[in-house]
Amino acid sequence: MTGNEIREKFLKFFEEKQHLMLPSASLIPQDDPTLLIIGAGMAPFKPFFTGKMKPPSPRITTCQKCVRTGDIENVGRTARHHTFFEMLGNWSFGDYFKEGAIEMSWDLLTRVIGIDPARLVVTAHESDDEAAAIWRKVAGKEAIRLGKDNWWSAGDTGPCGPCSEIFYDFGEDVPGGMPGTPDEDGGRFVEIWNDVFMQYDRDANGNLTPLPNKNVDTGAGLERWAAMLQGKFDNYDTDLFVNLKRAVSDVTGVAETPENR
Ligand code: GLY
Repeated sequence: MTGNEIREKFLKFFEEKQHLMLPSASLIPQDDPTLLIIGAGMAPFKPFFTGKMKPPSPRITTCQKCVRTGDIENVGRTARHHTFFEMLGNWSFGDYFKEGAIEMSWDLLTRVIGIDPARLVVTAHESDDEAAAIWRKVAGKEAIRLGKDNWWSAGDTGPCGPCSEIFYDFGEDVPGGMPGTPDEDGGRFVEIWNDVFMQYDRDANGNLTPLPNKNVDTGAGLERWAAMLQGKFDNYDTDLFVNLKRAVSDVTGVAETPENR
């Protein structure tokens, strides 16, 4: 599946489940002094989570252009981090919650896309027995329970909540351990989807106030899905990058080597 086909398949799946498909917003945040640049699919929707604005639909899906600065020091060091990337996502604003989000993630990955469930590992926040029980029921999976790695927010303040991540196992030839182990960053288990259960608004003092609604915010990196579905371990070897790299080589006259990758 090409990157374009993956993008289309994801958006169509959620459109068929009554999500309004919207185009990516600009990388430059509109009316949000807390953000320099859009770093997640949910960022343009913050006023919908806080209740400041009414969303055009209680269910939305997008493929959002992102630049994530929080882990930018990993770019060039791992096979899965980027400066610019595209984030696929589905949102519920006071509509479905944990069960709907988990069921749809699992259905898309295993039935529609056809990923072997044995290659998927799931996590849930240490406090979130409800999400863990849903994973048992929907997928027969025991979620690994984590603390801060299963809590998501777009910044120091604003909408946030516990999250549940899905990791793809690239196989035992790739070094690296399971989520929550000391060598989890090795690259064998790569996070390919995050279901965030947006329930709270965090203020500058760290106080959590329940949001007016229980919401869902998800994020799935297009480039990681391309690596997973194209049998490549390295995102930069997928069709989303090879033509760009070839063009750079043509223009500069410098061939790609393991040293200058
Ligand atoms: N908003 C969820 C994520 O970016 O992982």
